[in-house]
Amino acid sequence: MNNSIEKILFSEEEIREKVTQVGKKISEDYKGKNPVLVGILKGSVIFMADLMRAVDINCKIAFLSARSYGNNSFSSGTVQIGDNLKSSLGEDIEGKDIILVEDILDTAATLYAVREKMKELNPASIKICTFIERNIERKVDLKPDYKCFDIEDGFIVGYGLDYAQNYRNLPYVGILKPEIYTK
Ligand code: IMP
Ligand code: MG
Repeated sequence: MNNSIEKILFSEEEIREKVTQVGKKISEDYKGKNPVLVGILKGSVIFMADLMRAVDINCKIAFLSARSYGNNSFSSGTVQIGDNLKSSLGEDIEGKDIILVEDILDTAATLYAVREKMKELNPASIKICTFIERNIERKVDLKPDYKCFDIEDGFIVGYGLDYAQNYRNLPYVGILKPEIYTK
């Protein structure tokens, strides 16, 4: 185990099992449709790569950049989305069924902002698929339609999730030792 990790929360096996289930559910719900999975960079890349292979209907993928954490372990509260959403998506989403793919839903400020901006492009529908949901009280009205895991507190890394851009490559999800982000 990486020595910055206090404890493994979700192992590779548990992750594989959950992602497979969620992929199956999406395949059932979108049968006969051609959804576009839109990943929020960079945290969603690993989840997206596994999720799309767990989906067995025709689907497309696209990505967009949005960030609220900077290099901190807390949300800055302001969400930056790439300037021109339409061109950065590289995919015409008008009339399409969109599934936003996120690593972790925390305050949900990021996804809320993305969803509002995306509505301007007139997709047929927008749903939310998050790898992890942090169970906290939220100021914004947003709930995931699909999720793999819940957590309460603690700063976690791995499987795409970072601290100051590191640890995304860990194949499991672990709690980061507090001394790493308080030093
Ligand atoms: P929100 O806008 O507060 O929901 O923030 C969501 C984003 O914050 C996620 O996409 C992550 O990039 C980041 N984030 C929130 N909690 C954690 C965590 O425990 N570890 C790593 N990144 C996190
Ligand atoms: Mg992040």
